[in-house]
Amino acid sequence: MNNRQIVKVLTLDDFDLKDKTVFLRVDMNCPIDPETREISGTRRIEEAIETLDSLKESKVVIGSHQGRVGNSEYTGMDKHAKVLQELMGREIKYVEDTIGEAAQNAIKNLKNGEILLLDNLRLCAEENYEFAPENAAKTIMVSRLSKLFDLCVLDSFPSAHRSHPSIVGFSQVLPACAGRIVEREVRNLDEIMTVAKAPHVIVLGGSKIPDRLEAIKLLIQNGRADHVLLTGLIGNVFMRAQARIKSPLGIKREDEVVAKAHSLIGEYPDVFATPVDIAIDKDGARVEMDVREMGKGDKIFDLGPKTVEYYSKLIAGAGTVFISGPAGFFEKENFSYGTKALLNAVANSMATTIVSGGHLTTALKQQGLVDKIDHISTAGGALVLYLTGEKLPMIKALEEAAIKYKSK
Ligand code: 3PG
Repeated sequence: MNNRQIVKVLTLDDFDLKDKTVFLRVDMNCPIDPETREISGTRRIEEAIETLDSLKESKVVIGSHQGRVGNSEYTGMDKHAKVLQELMGREIKYVEDTIGEAAQNAIKNLKNGEILLLDNLRLCAEENYEFAPENAAKTIMVSRLSKLFDLCVLDSFPSAHRSHPSIVGFSQVLPACAGRIVEREVRNLDEIMTVAKAPHVIVLGGSKIPDRLEAIKLLIQNGRADHVLLTGLIGNVFMRAQARIKSPLGIKREDEVVAKAHSLIGEYPDVFATPVDIAIDKDGARVEMDVREMGKGDKIFDLGPKTVEYYSKLIAGAGTVFISGPAGFFEKENFSYGTKALLNAVANSMATTIVSGGHLTTALKQQGLVDKIDHISTAGGALVLYLTGEKLPMIKALEEAAIKYKSK
């Protein structure tokens, strides 16, 4: 692959961490069950532990977001504190505040070896906007809280593509380094990119459509996608652009995203593959059919066997495969077939393989396929963008912080 990223960042091993008050930005953005409102997958919380273990002699203040304002996964972090406490067997202090007096006092009262989790950072309005780093440094969040910290540790790789204050602001005014997740991700991805071979096959599902469309274009332009095999909601958007799905999908900004998909197909006619057959939910039962047989109001829940066979052949011929996002409603046993079958095809291919996103990571574990994959990451959109060769805002912030620190 071309456009290889060589990333030079500082790590926790470059600092004396004892007695320091550390701001640790993690990504504990977890799936939330829409009915119970409980966390339904704890992988990202589990992942935070390695860095926390390296900070045993510090006063640690953890910040994370959960969901987006207004969506069903937008909640406080109290549940995350309980899960983390149980997993670590150590007390996790929690404050229902982000940048106010309660949060500031809780930070000031921390002792060495203690961990405090702040509430959902997106409760602070500023954290919902993208800033240039120098402006992020001037936000109320960064100007208030940075006075209380000695070091900023960035470990939220799944949100490395966001230039939010907690991600790009603190490193402007404080020494900053990567946590263990970010350190491992950039090291492994750099190594993989060096040996990755064509043809590059991207298997793309997922629901954050505008992000996905932007990334697809960059992947193709940068020579990192010879075939893009579409699944999930993004697959439906492309099938609508091909006029193979007749009824509207009922998603946000539908006309705009369908038009973008349409122009991508026009620009790169040989790159995209879309499903031939699918499965719908008929009163709880799985019913398979060709896409052209779909009735008005039928909702796609999974891929059908012909599509799996077609995609599996392209995967078998790949030099590098990157798969991100489930192929259907993987959580429902009836509709997990496509996701499981494609993961099997990826695991059994001779290609260099990268699997991205929380759902697929869970599915791989369930199927005992973890050892057959070259790189597994709970990151979704951030990893897709990383593979385009674009420098992500968090990585850029860490590289700049390393240069600044070394020149002192
Ligand atoms: C993710 O799950 O992709 C990250 O946590 C980023 O979340 P966002 O797309 O809401 O910024």
